[in-house]
Amino acid sequence: MADRRPPAAAPLLRAALCLLCCAPAAVRAVPELGLWTQAVDDKSGPLIFRKTMFNSTEIRFSVKSFSCLRPVKFTIEWTLKYHTCHNEYPELEEMSQKHELEEDFCAYLKNINCWTTKNENLDCNSDLQVFPSLNNKELTGIRNASNQEGSMDIVARTQRDGFHIFIVSIKTEKADASWNLNVSLSMMGPHGYISASDWPLMIFYMVMCIVYILYGILWLTWSACYWKDILRIQFWIAAVIFLGMLEKAVFYSEYQNINSTGLSSKF
Ligand SMILES: *[C@@H]1O[C@H](CO)[C@@H](O)[C@H](O)[C@H]1NC(C)=O
Ligand SMILES: *[C@@H]1O[C@H](CO)[C@@H](O)[C@H](O)[C@H]1NC(C)=O
Ligand SMILES: *[C@@H]1O[C@H](CO)[C@@H](O)[C@H](O)[C@H]1NC(C)=O
Repeated sequence: MADRRPPAAAPLLRAALCLLCCAPAAVRAVPELGLWTQAVDDKSGPLIFRKTMFNSTEIRFSVKSFSCLRPVKFTIEWTLKYHTCHNEYPELEEMSQKHELEEDFCAYLKNINCWTTKNENLDCNSDLQVFPSLNNKELTGIRNASNQEGSMDIVARTQRDGFHIFIVSIKTEKADASWNLNVSLSMMGPHGYISASDWPLMIFYMVMCIVYILYGILWLTWSACYWKDILRIQFWIAAVIFLGMLEKAVFYSEYQNINSTGLSSKF
């Protein structure tokens, strides 16, 4: 009897492992990130970022490195738009690439729940060591000078929970100037970098992982108590519990990683 098991077990195990690996792709796309770095030059259009954010999420934007051969003055303008439906304004990315997006983003986005600010006359030349930091007077005015360090680079703060679009447009007064910048953007909410839609999932995976661990302990104890009467099906039940635990642990660690670093661990 016992020698019939390996042929039957191998395909089953393979199927289970395959399901485990394909599950993340099938369930939904990867969790939303919280940190981006991007290269921008004089030919790229406005940058568009989307994320489901909690209220009071702090959006930081800074120029990490730059190269301006000739002195130029930058105008950096950013717009935060809250929208209620998930797939609103799907055309923005394409329009930005084709340089068809109008100057006044808020007017285009119907002016409701839209906040915009800009910093003008940011000097850039080849002698400069650090790029001038951006600020939002509305936000930094609230805090006092000693807190300034902590609120560095905060350009916007969300005012409600939900879907947001963040647009950054970088311009110079001379159209023919050649420059390129490496910019960094982060969106850090009250729970970390995790997006508001992924936060409940992260809690779910954590709870399920604990539940599976408890099942596993219970099942092991029972199996140890009745080890003389164990049937093959009981081994399979143990395998299912183990796979469930592994799946939840992998998901939880990925979400936890995004929450603390803002980046996906590309495994
Ligand atoms: C931007 O980053 C890339 C990759 O790290 C680097 O090769 C490039 O020189 C940077 N550009 C500027 C303007 O610093
Ligand atoms: C400003 O900062 C100082 C030192 O941290 C603190 O004692 C004071 O209460 C702060 N004032 C306001 C208005 O936040
Ligand atoms: C967002 O948070 C701020 C400060 O924590 C609060 O005053 C405001 O009422 C909140 N907005 C919503 C829509 O919950």
